[in-house]
Amino acid sequence: MERIRKIKTGDAEELRRLYGSVVNEELPYILRNSVPSVEEETRFIQSVLDNDGTILVYERENGSLIGMLTINRMPHPQLSHRASFGISVSKSHRSQGIGESLIQHAKVWCKDNGISQLSLEVLASNPAISLYERLGFVVIGENSMGIKLEKEYHPVLTMAVPIS
Ligand SMILES: CC(C)(COP(=O)(O)OP(=O)(O)OC[C@H]1O[C@@H](n2cnc3c(N)ncnc32)[C@H](O)[C@@H]1OP(=O)(O)O)[C@@H](O)C(=O)NCCC(=O)NCCS
Repeated sequence: MERIRKIKTGDAEELRRLYGSVVNEELPYILRNSVPSVEEETRFIQSVLDNDGTILVYERENGSLIGMLTINRMPHPQLSHRASFGISVSKSHRSQGIGESLIQHAKVWCKDNGISQLSLEVLASNPAISLYERLGFVVIGENSMGIKLEKEYHPVLTMAVPIS
């Protein structure tokens, strides 16, 4: 059965494969530009978990991972009610509701972990914004110099949703 579950350290290889496929699309909204090694991916998973965050993955029946959502909790006690996330779904499985399910699960994880605001940063031209709006996220800030792509600055929006 297909399911959303929390990451395990043993998922590094499969996560790397998924993330690598998205990196190789060379989308302007994806910040890493090289495919991580298994060791780098293992360290990445461990650092998210060590910092009280989590990674939710969408697993198919055959064990392959086709979606991931990383939640990073803000580190200071006065800010730890806030968390941000990043999300990727493999190209061949988009527009089937997987992204939406991952975000709904992320909201539940936040609630269960005492987080009261979930946010993300998104390039203002990313078509995913309509998905975030549908799920209750609103724009709380705009940085007109948010990202520099080939010597040009482009605006980045911060979007957030309260968790209740
Ligand atoms: C953003 C992303 C995770 C959404 O995952 P998904 O499984 O396709 O999401 P859902 O099926 O739940 O929702 C799809 C909706 O998202 C929006 N959307 C997201 N990306 C889109 C794109 N590239 N083109 C058109 N619509 C897009 C549309 O509203 C779409 O609705 P539609 O299918 O009815 O047109 C996925 O498109 C992705 O991995 N994109 C590349 C990486 C990325 O941009 N990550 C987000 C960085 S902030």
